[in-house]
Amino acid sequence: MKILVTGGAGFIGSHLVDALVARGEEVLVIDDLSSGKRAYVNKEAKLVVQDIRVPEVREVIRAFQPEAIFHLAAQKSVPESLKHPRKDAEINLVGLCNILEALPGIGLKKFILTSTGGAMYGDDAALPAGEELPERPSSPYGIAKLASERYVQSWSTLHNFQAITLRPANVYGPRQDPLGEAGVIAILAKRAVEKQPMRVFGTGEHTRDYVYVADIVRAFLAALDSNTMGTFNIGSGKETSVLDIIQNLSHVVGNELPIEHQPEVVGEMERSALNATLAGTTLHWQPEITLQEGIQKTYEWFRAANG
Ligand SMILES: NC(=O)c1ccc[n+]([C@@H]2O[C@H](COP(=O)([O-])OP(=O)(O)OC[C@H]3O[C@@H](n4cnc5c(N)ncnc54)[C@H](O)[C@@H]3O)[C@@H](O)[C@H]2O)c1
Repeated sequence: MKILVTGGAGFIGSHLVDALVARGEEVLVIDDLSSGKRAYVNKEAKLVVQDIRVPEVREVIRAFQPEAIFHLAAQKSVPESLKHPRKDAEINLVGLCNILEALPGIGLKKFILTSTGGAMYGDDAALPAGEELPERPSSPYGIAKLASERYVQSWSTLHNFQAITLRPANVYGPRQDPLGEAGVIAILAKRAVEKQPMRVFGTGEHTRDYVYVADIVRAFLAALDSNTMGTFNIGSGKETSVLDIIQNLSHVVGNELPIEHQPEVVGEMERSALNATLAGTTLHWQPEITLQEGIQKTYEWFRAANG
């Protein structure tokens, strides 16, 4: 199959590209390398370095004539979207519209959108949050992702292609940016490798739902192979606190890691977890990698990357 992966030089996208290449698919990556890395792009895939906001991207897509598109290119940070909502909308909405404008008449069969689970259901949702709950995104990032879902659904009806939206929880694993604000496991794994204290904002009891990147890739492949349409949470259903992560990392490292407490981050969501039962029954997907295994793999990757 000819498959386009936008954001294929990034953390999740590059793992997805590796898996698609391993299946023998012909893969084109469009990425502006703003946070992705050329070195992460599989040598068997073709990389076009381009910003999805520029009109020329439509020509690249029309020339390639993909049968399937995985759309991952995005401004991915909630705090960044609160500071720069316009930039967030330009990438996450206008960029998407640019891609959508290329699609009529090219024979596209499937569009798989990467939305968000963590920023979709609001702070007061009953946990684990299922897709039946009302969408209540509170950040520009979440609002743009919800609008993206609607744009893709509208376009799939108008232009007759299959649309699947995945709403991942907090993804972690090798190649995640340890300098960002979202990748708590990456940040702490790197600090553990560098023998720095574990920095904890507030009590450390805030929870998130963590899914290892290889499990997310399996969900993407399940979506590619499925004849269904719809929106699916991709998560473990479990809440994990920052203190739980540190406990797991301490186990991996073999000694208790020291904690350095910092003031609480104002406005941060307290708890989050996704119910992914629908992905289980419809896409036959469920996570396979335990948190302990995933943290071990992530720590080992950062240790190797550190030389
Ligand atoms: N990491 C998570 O926990 C998580 C959770 C839910 C959803 N997501 C979504 O998954 C997708 C991938 O996220 P990630 O964590 O791999 O982040 P990432 O930053 O590693 O990947 C995003 C990629 O998009 C590229 N990009 C950004 N702006 C672009 C532009 N204007 N034009 C072309 N390319 C551009 C970046 O260079 C990067 O390679 C995003 O859509 C994100 O919103 C991520």
